[in-house]
Amino acid sequence: MTTMHPDVEEILFDEEKIAEIVRNMGRQISEDYKGKNLLLVSVLKGSLIFMADLMREITVPCAIDFLSVSSYGSGTTTSGEVRILKDLDASLDGKDVLVVEDILDSGVTLSYLLKNLSARNPASVRLCTFLDKPERRRVDIKADYIGASVPDKFIVGYGLDYDEFYRNLPYVGALKPCVYSHKEE
Ligand code: PRP
Repeated sequence: MTTMHPDVEEILFDEEKIAEIVRNMGRQISEDYKGKNLLLVSVLKGSLIFMADLMREITVPCAIDFLSVSSYGSGTTTSGEVRILKDLDASLDGKDVLVVEDILDSGVTLSYLLKNLSARNPASVRLCTFLDKPERRRVDIKADYIGASVPDKFIVGYGLDYDEFYRNLPYVGALKPCVYSHKEE
């Protein structure tokens, strides 16, 4: 039985449910990328746990790479500014790129990123997100693979943070508003 962190008001997906979602995503991706030149691109830091789980559910050959972007300060709302803090190690030439994200929120980060990666001569670029928060969308973007949709609450755990903490919670939960309301930007 999962013990809930005192700052969490509700568990949205427990470990068992997460494993089931990721297994299904891995199965679908493995079917779709048969015979392709799959490169998984993990967007740090939030996606690290999802990436580690997802890649082990993928049964076709794949390579991995990482990049880090920044669009948020320590608050809870996006500033709209996107910067690449750590770029990929290798070229995307001829690769079937699948961007792996923990959450698609306003879409600002991912729409910038997909444009940026598409300009590097890949064979294809698609987006896989574990969580989708469609209510918050500010730009027109849809993921090709979505694990689950979440309500417009502050989501933490399974890689997702508030002010860099809670990433290590093994479940996806909603943070109690009193924890972040005094810092909302
Ligand atoms: C989160 C998430 C996406 C982005 C999505 O990252 O991992 O990269 O925000 O938000 P958007 O759709 O509103 O652009 P964050 O900037 O919190 O960094 P982190 O992954 O290091 O936690």
